[in-house]
Amino acid sequence: MDKILIRGGKVLKGEIPISGAKNAALPLMIAALLTEEPLTLSNVPRLADVALLQRILRELGAHTTLLGRKAGESPFAGDVVRIHAEEITNITAPYELVSRMRASFWVIGPLLARCGQARVSLPGGCAIGTRPVDLYLKALSAMGAEIDIEQGYVVAKAPEKGLQGARIVFPKVSVGATHVTMMAAALARGETVIENAAREPEVADLARCLKAMGAKIEGEGTSTIHIEGVTALHGADHAVLPDRIETGTYAMAIAMTGGEGTLTHTRPDFLDAFLEVMEEAGVTITLDETRMHVKSNGGLKPVSVETQPYPGFPTDLQAQIMALMTMADGVSVIRETIFENRFMHVQELARLGADISLSGDTAQVRGVNELIGAPVMATDLRASVSLVIAGLAARGTTELNRVYHLDRGFEALEHKLAAVGADIERVRG
Ligand code: EPZ
Repeated sequence: MDKILIRGGKVLKGEIPISGAKNAALPLMIAALLTEEPLTLSNVPRLADVALLQRILRELGAHTTLLGRKAGESPFAGDVVRIHAEEITNITAPYELVSRMRASFWVIGPLLARCGQARVSLPGGCAIGTRPVDLYLKALSAMGAEIDIEQGYVVAKAPEKGLQGARIVFPKVSVGATHVTMMAAALARGETVIENAAREPEVADLARCLKAMGAKIEGEGTSTIHIEGVTALHGADHAVLPDRIETGTYAMAIAMTGGEGTLTHTRPDFLDAFLEVMEEAGVTITLDETRMHVKSNGGLKPVSVETQPYPGFPTDLQAQIMALMTMADGVSVIRETIFENRFMHVQELARLGADISLSGDTAQVRGVNELIGAPVMATDLRASVSLVIAGLAARGTTELNRVYHLDRGFEALEHKLAAVGADIERVRG
């Protein structure tokens, strides 16, 4: 297995290009199942999860074509991928694939809407929590689907005349359940209203793509989304939103080293809650429409953060802010309210000398003067990048194992960081 070695202490300076968002690309690719015409996506990030999802879509009968980059584009410009589900020849998403990437469970919505049936493996839990799918199943049932659980699979069947629009009130915000309900409702009969919908930019991006495909959707980006079902959707061209989590992550990497840099090809307007925390930490950030300029003023001040659904502070930046605060001048308090077990990075940060104490859903991070490099292990995607951030400032060498977690969500991480001065390399294992 590959490792990443980081020799800490280098000050990062320069420009880091941001890739298309993994968490936008995945639902957009799945939306291609809703039409028999091709959906062409640009700015698609080169990630393990994107490659795996293409394989899953092909197993269902879709054809995926990598159209590569336009001539002369930067090496980090995203891929153009065309997905053509002219015919769906298989309605089963198998355990061996769904268990590797939970978002593949989301194919249940388009399969039910387009084919009237679906057999999708339950995704199972993961490092950060049990991650049930009860909200998805309640929503699809409310739209008329018959749902059974058979040997670890969800077996779903739509009524003869297809799914029926319904009023869905989610008791808690769920990004995936909002994606799936919106996609199923796009081809249902009548109107669906989703209350307490997720407001994440990736949900709004999916809605924009569905509307380009002919769907009738209003309210995306707010807590109430209205969908008027149509009989069929057509193909479209759509650009994947820039990755707000990658943007916040690299901003914190620059701040961790006391450096100065600019994140390009991004949408900084999706990061208001993050920007407030950066200001509290004493990091100077200036924005324009597609760029974020970050300047650390030497020391870091402690912060108090609570993760919340969008537009609150993203849970996907929680591990990274924790890494940054390990060297702040004081005690920070970080509360994780979305997932029940998203502190797996604490023990690994402690191996680098961090002083963190946990009490239930809250971590207290007491800043230290120095971190010391050591071998550490990644446990999930965002925890792994928090160890990279810490390693960039640690004295000596940090060896990050289980790098496949990183490759799921951060395109060319070591190249992007090396280009701004990090002493980082991948050792093929
Ligand atoms: C999406 O996961 C993201 N994944 C996650 O990013 C992100 O952390 C999460 O949203 C929250 O923002 C993708 O977009 C591919 P949820 P999702 O449904 O949709 C509970 C990353 O690192 N819940 O919003 O699976 C659930 O257990 C990943 O890129 C139920 O109880 O998250 C969690 O506690 C990690 N029942 C909370 O809701 C359900 O039926 C929010 O989960 C569904 C969810």
